[in-house]
Amino acid sequence: MKAIDIRNKYLKFFEKHNHKIIPSAPLIPENDSSVLFNTAGMQPLVPYLLGEKHPEGTRLADYQKCVRTNDIDEVGDNRHCTYFEMLGNWSLGDYFKDESIAMSFELLTKELEIPVEKLFVTVFAGDEDCPRDEVAANAWKKVGILDGHIYYYGKDDNWWIAGETGPCGPDTEIFYDTGKPACGPDCQPSCDCGKYVEIWNNVFMEFFKDENGHYSKLKQHNVDTGMGLERITFILQGKETVFDTELFAPVIKQLEKMQKVDSISSRRIVAEHLRSSMMIISDGGRPSNLDRGYVLRRLIRRMIRHLNKLEIDLNELGNLVDLYIDTLKEMYPELDKNRDTIKSVILEEKDKFAKTLEKGEREFNKVADRLKQEGKDTIDVKTLFNLYETYGFPPEITKDLAAEQDLKVDDSDFEKLFKEHQEKSRMGSDQKFKGGLASSGEIETKYHTATHLLNAALKIVVSPDCHQQGSNITADRMRFDFNCDHKLTDEEKQKLEELVNKWIEEDLPVEVETMKKEEAVKSGAECMFIEKYPDLVTVYSIGNKGNIISKELCGGPHVKHTGEIGHFTIKKEESSSAGVRRIKAVIE
Ligand code: ALA
Repeated sequence: MKAIDIRNKYLKFFEKHNHKIIPSAPLIPENDSSVLFNTAGMQPLVPYLLGEKHPEGTRLADYQKCVRTNDIDEVGDNRHCTYFEMLGNWSLGDYFKDESIAMSFELLTKELEIPVEKLFVTVFAGDEDCPRDEVAANAWKKVGILDGHIYYYGKDDNWWIAGETGPCGPDTEIFYDTGKPACGPDCQPSCDCGKYVEIWNNVFMEFFKDENGHYSKLKQHNVDTGMGLERITFILQGKETVFDTELFAPVIKQLEKMQKVDSISSRRIVAEHLRSSMMIISDGGRPSNLDRGYVLRRLIRRMIRHLNKLEIDLNELGNLVDLYIDTLKEMYPELDKNRDTIKSVILEEKDKFAKTLEKGEREFNKVADRLKQEGKDTIDVKTLFNLYETYGFPPEITKDLAAEQDLKVDDSDFEKLFKEHQEKSRMGSDQKFKGGLASSGEIETKYHTATHLLNAALKIVVSPDCHQQGSNITADRMRFDFNCDHKLTDEEKQKLEELVNKWIEEDLPVEVETMKKEEAVKSGAECMFIEKYPDLVTVYSIGNKGNIISKELCGGPHVKHTGEIGHFTIKKEESSSAGVRRIKAVIE
């Protein structure tokens, strides 16, 4: 069975059990700054797990695109991925443990025809916060899980929470026994040797963990489940690894053909990181040195390093992206739609990095030789950071290089140095702009509100059909792209400036409210990619009651009053791409 058929089977099964199928939210959560990427199907559903009514009811199912980078060092083994698809079903105060377990068992053994002797499950062993989960264990026995196939573990293994605080609870995990020999007498589902592969996790989400680490009961009991599509696919296909499935195999084969040096783990890292990068770019991510942009940059750069290791000509990268998009477009039509952007972002980053890669490797080799001469075996954090700062080597590239020469890396203070460096470069650009008086957060916030004013002014001065096509803000300037069929005249530019400055002088209030996406759209709120937003959105309005001049779906942040922005000046107006113009402006 192909991955897409498994996805469809899963959704159909839950539809049959009265679940509504909802669309995957984009990888990048627009209105949740607490996470860089969606890392689980439950993330866009948090308000509903906490008790808000979901418009589609109390039983939901979907597939969700996810990125997790905590396992990035594991990529290359048989099953770890940074991008993966999570199949999930939810009960929002509806069914609980018995029904959830019965449905999981039915899907696995009847629909997907997994023999019951292959299945092992784990349940929560109990502690002072929550009792031993005999209800779940009994439910498993009742449906037919074999004696000796149920294990009890503590919070480390059988408690699930996204991050530090939020809705959480005991879970029951379902494992598949690959039939490989046990790695030792203690080998059991919690073991990482690869004999047991976790395929599904059912979380019984009835607690909330607050900042002080206290647990309280939620308004309602929920079920939150997640099944890794790549894993269930390789298991059902009887393959050894996720890379042997149709999701990766054509690309792995092509790499095999092109390579001059053989390395199975490099091929896997290239295929895996390239897929993640394409998915992130397709959902709007761009490489940078900050937050999610930095995650994307690391993925692309490490992929390029491993292409080099395989001695594959980097000029082949564009063709490889095409092949990959063709491989995946049935599952993710958005990849095909965004093909040109995906390619140009990846190739641009390749060009940037290829320049320093060789020099960086030479520098690394010098360091490695020196260490060996001195009889040392560890690269210190300063060198690690220097390789990042001077040659753009993210730590995992240096770690890869070090491992190849049997060297260790001390990365203990890397994060600290990285943050200090970011802070310094931010302060540097503020300095340029305002003699160091404004903090970067403040100035960027002002620019952000100014883009909303410009967006509204364009509709009045140029055409009601002008819409935002993109924007980019630094501490020094804003850039704003919009659709328009002509070069703006001097008069239009002057009118735009005058109107924006008039609104700034009027010191209009900026208000934010949270509402359902459909409601926001109905209310006429402006928004760039409606499908990129979660169901619950924040809407920023500028103006006095009865005279709202701008209303946009937006994650913020914004100033409270337009008077805070300062004087707005257009510095440049130019073409950005066909039918799209670009304004560069400053506030002073
Ligand atoms: N939210 C649960 C997980 O990610 C299902 O494992």
